[in-house]
Amino acid sequence: MSEQMYHPGLEGVIAGETAISTIAGGSGLRYRGYAIEDLAREATFEEVAYLILHTELPTPDQLKDFRGRLIENAPITSDILKFLRTVPRTTPIMDFLRTGASALAHWDSEAGDTSHDAQLRKAERLLAKLPTIMAAHRRLQQSKEPVQPDPKKSYAANILWMLKRKQPSEALERAMDISLTLYAEHEFNASTFTARVITSTLSDLHSSVAGAIGALKGPLHGGANERVMEVLAQVGSPENAEPWIREALANKTRIMGFGHRVYKDGDPRARFLKPICQQLAVETHNESLEETAEVIERIVVEEKGLPPNLDWPSARLYHYMGLDVAIYTPLFVVSRVTGWAAHIIEQMDNNRLIRPRSRYIGPEPRDWVPLAERA
Ligand SMILES: CC(C)(COP(=O)(O)OP(=O)(O)OC[C@H]1O[C@@H](n2cnc3c(N)ncnc32)[C@H](O)[C@@H]1OP(=O)(O)O)[C@@H](O)C(=O)NCCC(=O)NCCS
Repeated sequence: MSEQMYHPGLEGVIAGETAISTIAGGSGLRYRGYAIEDLAREATFEEVAYLILHTELPTPDQLKDFRGRLIENAPITSDILKFLRTVPRTTPIMDFLRTGASALAHWDSEAGDTSHDAQLRKAERLLAKLPTIMAAHRRLQQSKEPVQPDPKKSYAANILWMLKRKQPSEALERAMDISLTLYAEHEFNASTFTARVITSTLSDLHSSVAGAIGALKGPLHGGANERVMEVLAQVGSPENAEPWIREALANKTRIMGFGHRVYKDGDPRARFLKPICQQLAVETHNESLEETAEVIERIVVEEKGLPPNLDWPSARLYHYMGLDVAIYTPLFVVSRVTGWAAHIIEQMDNNRLIRPRSRYIGPEPRDWVPLAERA
């Protein structure tokens, strides 16, 4: 194998084929051919999830049935709730979701069935249940009783309902819906690739999703949206933004929410979300935080040429929605499970074991030394 074939971090390497999404030319994002901006503007998250999982946009009847299946599968049984209550309340929600995705397999009668149709049914059940267990754990952490989903509410509205037991405003529901659409799928990112590697051994869907959650948790991937909020809290005010960011850059600090492996000219999801974020900031009287973010963004772009990624505006969006930082990356999970599941199904339908090679940089061949002769 030629040395030239080695690309650290697999940067620029085409590691497989997919019909699910494309980052066209490194600047635009499309799910199954549809521009992300059209989907976020026009469709609900349920339509987008259906598109990603079932390959086409749903007809009104298909959407009604899909919503029905999500609603039917969203509540958790008393067995599962009993199990969830045994997890220590101090467990971070991402760790809990990793365990939860795995645990749900024990109550899924098709857990070991990796046929195309069974995988789709399991994907829908996971999509339906993950917000319920996420919200249940969050409420138990806050010494509050879990809230069951409301069958009359949309997927987005139910997340807010189960977290807060409060009817969300239309603006908050729409903001949540848009963020779910923007996070739903992103071709061969680290967590999706993890899911595909696990699936390529012919393992089951729940195992692949549990592995993907572990990959998403890291601060260079999904964990960045929580770190963004920590940065903004540390900066404190628009006046402090410029000295803070100049010092951070001088100290070579990695600024969370900026840079991307593929989008070198800017993340289209961040561009789309920014005005929505600004609008929600006005509605919720958070203009000062927007100003702080604007100063940081301008200087990082000027000094480092690094545009913001989706996590930069979405962290603020969630803050304006009154959500705790601890829930930001878990929200990424409940959306991205659609993308993961579609990739798992695509991989299984046309599988080849993913098993690359490594370049050896260890010691030259050595002679065996018996234990007694080792100093
Ligand atoms: C996303 C990310 C991991 C992609 O990184 P990558 O393609 O591996 O690029 P590198 O880490 O090699 O960075 C290339 C250069 O840009 C700099 N850089 C990249 N992202 C940076 C950031 N967020 N803040 C400051 N500098 C950054 C690196 O220090 C490096 O500079 P150098 O060449 O002088 O050493 C990286 O941009 C990052 O860590 N961003 C912050 C975390 C984040 O927001 N993640 C969410 C991604 S959607």
